[in-house]
Amino acid sequence: MLNKRTDKIKITRRKGIVLAGGKGSRLLPLTLGTSKQLMPIFDKPLIYYPLSTLIMSGVQEVLFISTPHDLPSFQRLLGDGSKWGMMFNYAIQDQPRGIADAFRIGRDYLDGEPSVLILGDNIFFGHGMQAVLSHAETRSGATIFASLVRDPHRFGIVELNANYDVIGLEEKPAAPKSHWAVTGLYFVDGRAPDFADEIECSSRGELEILSLLNHYLQRQQLGVEILHRGYAWLDAGTHESLHQASDFVKTLQDRQGLLVCSPEELAYRNGLISIDRLAELADEQKQSTYGEALMTIVRQERDDLSKR
Ligand code: DAU
Repeated sequence: MLNKRTDKIKITRRKGIVLAGGKGSRLLPLTLGTSKQLMPIFDKPLIYYPLSTLIMSGVQEVLFISTPHDLPSFQRLLGDGSKWGMMFNYAIQDQPRGIADAFRIGRDYLDGEPSVLILGDNIFFGHGMQAVLSHAETRSGATIFASLVRDPHRFGIVELNANYDVIGLEEKPAAPKSHWAVTGLYFVDGRAPDFADEIECSSRGELEILSLLNHYLQRQQLGVEILHRGYAWLDAGTHESLHQASDFVKTLQDRQGLLVCSPEELAYRNGLISIDRLAELADEQKQSTYGEALMTIVRQERDDLSKR
């Protein structure tokens, strides 16, 4: 989330990808009728959160990848992106072939450009997130984001040396070598689709993102940003974690009176839309507390602007 006055984000030519497919089987029966990434996290759909992280990275162009069944719902929700000063594209993943498949699907869209892939169920929050993302933007090769977890066998795990250099990667290891989870946010350069073509399916039948990242590691081109204490990283893949994420967002928003991961607010603060456009977006949603919160931002901003 951006603080009210930490205004400047540099727009990057890096393209964004949100991977929002999968079966959502750990959320049954919720996902019988709709996609996991459209589930509410308190006052907004889950997909708004990873999208907000991309906006915070300075990304303006995003490719959303989902199932043939769910893609039209994302298109209805998000449109072509112009309402937020962005450009959205859509692509189908007909089978959950693995996270690295996103780069095969996105090859033409990326057209050799660097990109940032985020999983549609990953939520990042923290005051310094902006700085961490900006730092990743300056690195070459690929960058992952590591966060401490209590139950490392449930995640991709990165092994680090004393200097916090990456020395190994393992997907859901039975005997984890560290408690640093590889979060679902990956900055890569233009070679990612080629590396994705080179990898083979794992024993669980997926094109693993860690196999792709290993190509960078072998060339000593894999950097890591550490999300230390003070950052929240949540993935909303189970009933429990969906509920916890909602609670977390509600508690923060109630307490601070600030929105957590609002694409409309971030688009405004990033200079993608004007204050008048933000006011229109707020007005369209004024019957909800979310729309009211946007309206409060509009009033505060107009007040500030009039004093300048
Ligand atoms: O959340 C972080 C973790 O995400 C990483 O630590 C792991 O390294 C990474 O493999 C992944 O683990 P998960 O077990 O959470 O992956 P899952 O299969 O649940 O997929 C994550 C999201 O990506 C989920 O929302 C569905 C979507 N997805 C997944 C696959 C395999 C797709 O859209 N298509 C796919 O083919």
